[in-house]
Order: sequence, then C-alpha cells, then structure tokens
Amino acid sequence: MPLKIVVGAQWGDEGKGRIVDWFASQAEVVARYNGGDNAGHSVTVGSQLFKLHLIPSGIVHPRPVAIMGNGMVINPESLFSEIESLEKVGVDAGPKRLRISHAAHLITPAHKALDKAMEAARGKESIGTTGRGIGPAYTDKAARTNLRVADMVGTDFVEKLGTHIESANRSLAALGAPALDIGPVLDTFSQYATRIRPFVADTAAEMDAALRAGQTVLAEGAQGTLLDIDHGTYPFVTSSSTLAPAALLGLGLGMTAARDSIVSGVCKAFQTRVGSGPFPTEIHEESLALRLRGTGENPWDEYGTTTGRPRRVGWLDGVLLRYAARLNGFTELVITKLDILSGMPHIKICTAYTRNGKIYHDLPFGPTDLEGFEAVYEELPGWTEDVSGIRRWEDLPQPARDYLDAIGRVAGVPVRLVSVGPEREQIVPAG
Ligand code: GDP
Ligand code: IMO
Ligand code: MG
Repeated sequence: MPLKIVVGAQWGDEGKGRIVDWFASQAEVVARYNGGDNAGHSVTVGSQLFKLHLIPSGIVHPRPVAIMGNGMVINPESLFSEIESLEKVGVDAGPKRLRISHAAHLITPAHKALDKAMEAARGKESIGTTGRGIGPAYTDKAARTNLRVADMVGTDFVEKLGTHIESANRSLAALGAPALDIGPVLDTFSQYATRIRPFVADTAAEMDAALRAGQTVLAEGAQGTLLDIDHGTYPFVTSSSTLAPAALLGLGLGMTAARDSIVSGVCKAFQTRVGSGPFPTEIHEESLALRLRGTGENPWDEYGTTTGRPRRVGWLDGVLLRYAARLNGFTELVITKLDILSGMPHIKICTAYTRNGKIYHDLPFGPTDLEGFEAVYEELPGWTEDVSGIRRWEDLPQPARDYLDAIGRVAGVPVRLVSVGPEREQIVPAG
C-alpha cells in the first residue's frame, strides 16, 4: 500500500485528524496537499488535545515525516506559532521532520484583510469563511501574482512583498477597508524568511524517493468533498481542490503513484456543516439538533475547531455520500462519532431525493442544484448502550451494526473502521 489518501466525505470536520493519527503508525510520510490554516484537525492522545491547522496531523505520531505540499497556502505566522506549540509539548517539528514545498503559496496579512473585507461586502450573501485569507491567496495564485515559499528564500523577497502589499492596499481601499502598514509586515516576514529556510525542500522529489523505496505515504486531505471548489456546493465552498485526485497534483506525484492506492473516505455518522450554504438534511428542531451538537462542554461537541462557531447538524446524507464516493473513488469508508448516536430513539439516513413526485437516487447536477429537491429518509431503530468502550465489531449493539451496514450499502463502499470516541484507541475495525 504505497499511497493512502484520507479525504473528508462531507463538509469538513469529519474527524480526519484523528483517523490520520490512527493510520500514521503505518506510514513513513504524512503529507497535506490542499488548503491552509482554515483547517482544524483534532488529535487526542491521553490527556493531550492537539489542534492542527496547517501542519499535517500525522506529526503528532512519532513515526512519520510531515510534508506540506505545493497545493497548500501557508501563513508563516500560523506556521511558526504551530511549530512552537508542538515543540512546547515535546513533538519534534524541526526541519528534519517537517518539510515544506518550495512551490507552496503564501498567505500574507493582506490576504486575511481582503478575506474579511470581501465577506463584509457580501453582506447577507456571505460565505461564512474562516477569515484566514484562503480565497484571496488562491485568487492571487490563479492570477499568477502570488508569492511562494521559494520567494521567501530568494534575494528580492522584501521588494516583492512590498509590491504585493501595495497592490492589496489598493483593493482594500476599493472595498472601503483600512490599508495595511507595510513596514511592520516587511519586518516580521523578513524574520520568517530566515526561519523558514531550513524547512524548504523539493518535497515532490522526496516523496517520489520514498515511494520508490517502498515506503508508505499518507496523504491528508483538508476540508471535505462538498467544499471542493469544482464539485462542492459552489459558491459555498473553499478555494482549493479537496478531493483525492488533488492529492497527486497538490503533492507533485504522477499518475502511477495512485496505482493500488487506498482512498479512505472519512464520514461522520451524521452530517454537519459550518458556514453558509445548502444543507438538505439539516435538523431544525432545536432539541434534536442540540442532542447531536452538544452544548460545547465536551471538546468533541460540534463547535468549529478553527473559529469556534456552532456547527449546523443533520441526518447523514447517503445521496451526497454516494456522490463523494464516486468523485473520490473511495475504496473504504471510516465512520466517526458513532458514540454520539447512542440514546437516539431512531436514526434517519437520506437514501434518495424527491421533486415533483419523482424519486431521484442521484441528484442530476450533484449538490450544485438542490432547488426543489427534498430528502427521502429510511428510518432505523436506535440503541441505548454506550459504545465508546467497544473495540470489537461483534460487541456493537445490533442496531448500530445495522446502521453501519446501511451506510455501506447506500454509499456502495465497505465500512472499514468505526470511531467510537476521540481518543487514539477508540477504534473498532469492521467485521
Ligand atoms: P477534522 O477537521 O476532520 O480533522 O475534524 P475536527 O477535528 O475538526 O472535528 C472532529 C471532532 O470530533 C474533534 O473534536 C475530534 O476530537 C472529535 N472526534 C473524532 N472522532 C470522534 C468520535 O468517534 N467520537 C467523538 N465523540 N468525537 C470524535
Ligand atoms: P477541516 O479541514 C469545516 C468552510 C468555511 C466556509 C467555507 C469557506 O477542519 O475539515 P474558507 O475559509 O476556506 O474560504 O471558507 O469553507 N471551511 C471548513 N468547514 N472544516 C474545515 O476544515 C473548513 N475549512 C473551510 O466554514 O463555509
Ligand atoms: Mg476540522
């Protein structure tokens, strides 16, 4: 199994971080291929809770080397603060273990300011971004005007950065937002440029060498399928390609690297979304929603890891899961947060949609056109037992196994692992 790709099957926050941590024990390399510090990947090891935004979650496990691929957008301020907090608790995040692609793009304070100003200008139509500058950074990338990590180690970085901030200041003025003070940005970024130098590498070549040597590379997706710029619920999406095939482009791997690869779709046992956009299986009945979301007392309750916003919750959307399985080419599913469903009197799963009396097993235009479609549910019995201590498939209550079987059947992909709590060992291999 040379390449294994872990992808979110829904709108993000499926528990990718904890699943990458589980697989990391079998990998020599763990690499992120998209997004930036809009991600929030939680890994719980004993009493320690790690919240990774930028650095691959696999770094928490002592085994693999961590790579930040060319498909990422990197805010150096977040990078160094994350490195510092990891090293403070004894996780090695030095340049021998953390490698950053020279071709990855930068996020600057100008991108963050533009993200916020553009959201404000959208008013009621706002996307609900994380405010981390993701959209503006990818916009500059596509416009071929952005700065890359390679620029930071070049001789004319300060000059290029100055030009970038001046140009952003003109855009900010057009949006009625205050200009950035260029001097302090140049000062701090000059320091970051010195610090980043030992981490910078041709990570694509390093991964190619690892794969040729028979090592396992674990590709860690950020966000989720339905937030993909092309195939998600556009325009309520992020600005990167989140899907499994993007792992090749975002890490600089060729098509043959994907031969025999495993594509693991991580899917919550229900559905959540943070930010605006369509959500057909959303639960609006507050007492039921609260039951799934939690009050915020537990670290795993449904409040954004990056922004702290309450997540919208709903029933698992099997139609969109089938869509995710097709687009990513999932070879297996990992179901997380099964423990949260204990005590629900019944559990629903959306198996089809209906419009004007006609049943649709697949949406004609995927999740981009949901106008007039209504979810059709299959209802299954719940269970009362606490499943968080269970480690064997046969010990799960029968209704829980029936629900997991239903998910696999609806998605058309076998369930391989089930997570029954946030802790590293709270995993049940499927029977
Ligand atoms: P990611 O962005 O996909 O890595 O997911 P997040 O870390 O943003 O959100 C998932 C949350 O659920 C985190 O707080 C995890 O610690 C927690 N979590 C993951 N798997 C489980 C599980 O099986 N049960 C419970 N109760 N919490 C889980
Ligand atoms: P992880 O990797 C959940 C959402 C934002 C917003 C939209 C666009 O932890 O699963 P952006 O800042 O990317 O321009 O915001 O995407 N979003 C996420 N939602 N999990 C994430 O990451 C997300 N990253 C972005 O809430 O709706
Ligand atoms: Mg998250």
